[in-house]
Amino acid sequence: MTTGTNELKNGSIVTVKGVKKAYGKVQALKGVNLELQSGKVLGLLGPNGAGKTTLIRIMTTLLKPDEGEVSISGFDVVRNAQAVRSIIGLTGQYAAVDEELTGQENLHMVGRLYHLDRDTIRRRARELIERFSLTQAAHRTVKTYSGGMRRRLDVAASLLMSPRVLFLDEPTSGLDLRSRIEVWNMIHELVADGTTVLLTTQYLEEADQLADTICVIHYGEIVARGTSGELKAQSGGDVLQITVADRSQLGKAREAISLLAAKEPQVEPVLGQINLPAANGTRVLVDAVRALDDNNIEIEDIVLRRPTLDDVFLALTGEKVGEEESL
Ligand SMILES: Nc1ncnc2c1ncn2[C@@H]1O[C@H](COP(=O)(O)OP(=O)(O)O)[C@@H](O)[C@H]1O
Ligand SMILES: [Mg+2]
Repeated sequence: MTTGTNELKNGSIVTVKGVKKAYGKVQALKGVNLELQSGKVLGLLGPNGAGKTTLIRIMTTLLKPDEGEVSISGFDVVRNAQAVRSIIGLTGQYAAVDEELTGQENLHMVGRLYHLDRDTIRRRARELIERFSLTQAAHRTVKTYSGGMRRRLDVAASLLMSPRVLFLDEPTSGLDLRSRIEVWNMIHELVADGTTVLLTTQYLEEADQLADTICVIHYGEIVARGTSGELKAQSGGDVLQITVADRSQLGKAREAISLLAAKEPQVEPVLGQINLPAANGTRVLVDAVRALDDNNIEIEDIVLRRPTLDDVFLALTGEKVGEEESL
C-alpha cells in the first residue's frame, strides 16, 4: 500500500488543518484542526448542527473545504481525491442499502460498483456476512431487517474494499439499546483487527465506549479534546444528586455539604434537590451522607450519577445541548 510522508513523520494517518466551510451565511466549520493516529478511534462528539457531517464529507472527498487542508495517509483530499477514496470507507448518517435487495445482493452490488472481480466479491461478501452475524438473513430482503441489522450491513458494505480508515457518521443514531450494543461490538472487533476509525456521535456514552480520543465540536469549532476521563474531569466529574425529605431544609443541607466539593452545589428548589459536582465520587457520597446526618437532615434519595453530554457541554460552553443558535 502506498503511504504518504505525513503518516511516517508522526504516526497520524488523518490530519485536518484549519478547515473552514460555509453554506451561504452559515459558517458550519470555523477552522478545525485534528489528528487521528493509525489504529486508533477518534470520536467527534457534538449535538445536531455542530458540523460533524460537514467535516466527515470533507474528509471523505465528497465536499471541498473553503479553506484548510485534510490529508489521509499523506494524500490530500482535494488534490488526490481518487487515492484517498481507495483507502477509506464511509458509512453515512442515513443507511445507504437498498431495501428491495437481499443483504448478499447489496454487498455484491457494492463490489460491482467498485469493479472488484467476481471471486473477490463473493469471498469478501461471505466473510463480512459471517463476521457481522448476518448469515441467517443474507438471503432476505433488507426491508425485513431490524435497524441494527441494516446498520451492520451498511458498515459491511463500506468494508468491502478493506479500507485503512473507516468513517462512521452517527453509526447508532435511531437504534434501540440492543442494536446499539451490537453495533458497538462490531466496531470494537474492527478496531481489534487494526482498522482506524473516525466516528461521530451525539452521545457521550458512545464516545466513551468506543473512542481513544474525543473531540467535542460545537458550532463548527473543536471546544475540547481528550480521553473521556479527561473530558468528564473538566466537567467536574460525577454529580451527586441529593433529594431532601423536607424542602424547608434545602438551605441548611446546601450549607452542610458546600465544603465537600471544589464547585458550588446547584439547588433545584422545585425538585427539592441539590446537585453537587463530585470529582471524587464515592468519597464525596460518604462525606455528604455523614454531613447531612450530623445536621439531622433526612435524605429522601441520594444518587451518584456519571456526567452526561449535557453536563460536559454545560461545563465547556456554558450552554445546554440542543439550544437553538441565535442568528
Ligand atoms: N447543504 C446544506 N445547506 C445549508 N446548510 C447546511 C447544509 N448542510 C448542513 N448545513 C448547516 O451546517 C451546520 C452543520 O451541519 P452538519 O454538518 O450537518 O452538522 P451535524 O452533522 O453535526 O448535525 C448546521 O447549521 C446545518 O444546518
Ligand atoms: Mg450529521
